[in-house]
Amino acid sequence: MSYLDVFSLDGHVALVPGGGGAIGAAVSRALAAAGAKVVVANRTLDRAAAAADAVRSEGGDAIALEMDATVEADCERAVAAAVERYGRLDLLVNCVGGGAGKVLFDAQEYPRDAWDWIMELNLRSVLVPTQAAVRQMIRQGEGGRIVNLSSVRALLGIDAGYSAYVAAKGAVESLTRQWATEWARHGIRVNGIRPTFVDTPQVAMLLGDPVFKAGLVSRIPLGRVGGTDDMTGAVVFLLSDAAAFITGQTIGLDGGLTATQ
Ligand SMILES: NC(=O)c1ccc[n+]([C@@H]2O[C@H](COP(=O)([O-])OP(=O)(O)OC[C@H]3O[C@@H](n4cnc5c(N)ncnc54)[C@H](OP(=O)(O)O)[C@@H]3O)[C@@H](O)[C@H]2O)c1
Repeated sequence: MSYLDVFSLDGHVALVPGGGGAIGAAVSRALAAAGAKVVVANRTLDRAAAAADAVRSEGGDAIALEMDATVEADCERAVAAAVERYGRLDLLVNCVGGGAGKVLFDAQEYPRDAWDWIMELNLRSVLVPTQAAVRQMIRQGEGGRIVNLSSVRALLGIDAGYSAYVAAKGAVESLTRQWATEWARHGIRVNGIRPTFVDTPQVAMLLGDPVFKAGLVSRIPLGRVGGTDDMTGAVVFLLSDAAAFITGQTIGLDGGLTATQ
């Protein structure tokens, strides 16, 4: 046995809500490359199908499902599909979220409908798939591993109208600790990653503004914005046996940004 075997996800089955998105698709490919079988679940089926095709074109094993992560019946169906196709479910990576830059309002005026939309997209979308997946992991009785997608906005205020997003991502990190505490008795580890801007379509407009980008990069000690491939290694690590004693943690993937604050 090689020392590197602890990083393998061989024999594990993963559900990736939001797996059709920029980070979710990269995560799906990485999980498959590390040996997992992957259920790519996305609200828009075409995007899930494209991500699953990418996995298969690289020799991995994946299926695509249409799933609204805020709808309990959809999440139950996705878990059942994983069990039917691959016999079990061990891993969950919650990749649904975003929308922060689309609804920017002064905190004292933040409208309830925008607040509810961001909370649905970033918090309920994590809660509902996790409940469905964990019920299955507990039924199996062999533990499980979960990674949630947070953001540096969980830690850092920003004077740009982000009230709802910072609240949602802060709650995701709180739940990561809470779930780690509650589900440790079932052998289920729960961790997270906390990126700053990742070069994806969600933030393409902002990163396309050279003044904004230069200001951002000047605050990042490693001197660049992250790419989706900067996210995947940490996710695979946290899901693997190499992280067997890590739970309740959210790792900053920010080129050192938060180290400077
Ligand atoms: N990109 C960044 O710079 C950045 C930085 C920090 C944190 N993050 C976090 O990383 C995560 C992924 O971001 P991303 O950049 O990969 O975003 P993305 O490309 O927009 O991916 C999100 C995916 O989630 C899907 N989705 C949205 N609502 C859904 C729902 N209710 N049910 C199922 N699927 C749904 C979207 O599909 P549809 O096409 O159907 O909407 C999309 O494929 C988010 O939590 C985000 O907050 C991103």
